[in-house]
Amino acid sequence: MNRKLRIGILGGGGILVAHAPGFNRLQDQCEVIVAERDASRYDQIRKLLGPDVKIVGDYAELLNKEIVDAVDILLPHHLHAPAAIAAAQAGLPVLVEKVMARNIYECDQMIEACSKAGVSLTVCHDRRYDNDWMALKHIVESGELGDILFWKLEHNQNVIFPEKSWGRSKEQIGGGAIMSCLTHQIDSLRWYGGEFESVTSMSKVDASRMEGESIGAVIARMKSGALALLSINWNTQSHQAPNGLWYEFNHVTGTKGEAYFMSGKGTFVKIYEGQKVFEYDMKGEGAFVKVDTGDGLTGHQKCIEEWVKSLRGEKADIVTMGADSRKTVEVAEAAYRSEATGSVVRLPIHPIPWKS
Ligand SMILES: NC(=O)c1ccc[n+]([C@@H]2O[C@H](COP(=O)([O-])OP(=O)(O)OC[C@H]3O[C@@H](n4cnc5c(N)ncnc54)[C@H](O)[C@@H]3O)[C@@H](O)[C@H]2O)c1
Repeated sequence: MNRKLRIGILGGGGILVAHAPGFNRLQDQCEVIVAERDASRYDQIRKLLGPDVKIVGDYAELLNKEIVDAVDILLPHHLHAPAAIAAAQAGLPVLVEKVMARNIYECDQMIEACSKAGVSLTVCHDRRYDNDWMALKHIVESGELGDILFWKLEHNQNVIFPEKSWGRSKEQIGGGAIMSCLTHQIDSLRWYGGEFESVTSMSKVDASRMEGESIGAVIARMKSGALALLSINWNTQSHQAPNGLWYEFNHVTGTKGEAYFMSGKGTFVKIYEGQKVFEYDMKGEGAFVKVDTGDGLTGHQKCIEEWVKSLRGEKADIVTMGADSRKTVEVAEAAYRSEATGSVVRLPIHPIPWKS
């Protein structure tokens, strides 16, 4: 394609801050138009994408091949499926922020619409494009940790949605913190350690924050035989305090060693018998050695770069296609069904139609 790609960004709220730099650095290849129905967001949109960026109101205004070539969906969760389906019906390839949708029923509708229209469906699970998170995957795949026994992944934040925000609505967010953000950890664990076999889950609602759970814990058996413990805590300020705890933490224990990622600190590894060197340079002293993951493009920007390459028909390293990300939603939905029934839920589960 000789002309620039026209990207419609649907929704110009909080997460635009992570997407805008990805498109700004590709200005020679694409131009963006934003659909945002809340005019109070326009100043921030112009700050992030430049004073001349074109902004329209409702996202439906952009779903037209005459106007854009593809869409990047940054809308609330209850609008992911309707927007993606309408975009596909208009013949537009879709990139959608995590979580793909509120449940597997919606995921299936999105996959079907995109497949029928012959357009791609990519989910921006940014952790899979993050160099530090990727380093942990490479360490596991090197085999140096031996057989993997146990995974522990945590997500900790202090999340208080504004009054009337979609995040406070159980229906609009698709449950609560587990579906919204523990899906970062679920998705990464599937990427690191293969598919889930069964899950059990419990959660806690703090009604002053939101209708759905703000705290959740999932115990899982992986198909590999490893055990996993995943938790989300949206009621903690610990990571913001001096000497506080981590924000996100991924720890893996094998028979020959262990490794972890801790946000703000990086990725570390310890091999029980002598330190081996992987494809990374390892710096530091002490039992755990820090992995040097370089300063290359990472996270959302890397995801956007690969997506734009794919739109241009170039070879692209996309690791988060819709059909795969559906399995992440499936694990979160299985966790909800586990709590609802008080039982261990084995995967796969069957879609249940949702009305909204
Ligand atoms: N990857 C991450 O770490 C991360 C972090 C935060 C949010 N997210 C994801 O990003 C997505 C958006 O979250 P957010 O925090 O930016 O939410 P947000 O509420 O700040 O932004 C959503 C925007 O969509 C707009 N909108 C709603 N309906 C619209 C319509 N019909 N037409 C045009 N605009 C409309 C709203 O006015 C709002 O500005 C969610 O999927 C969320 O899970 C990802």
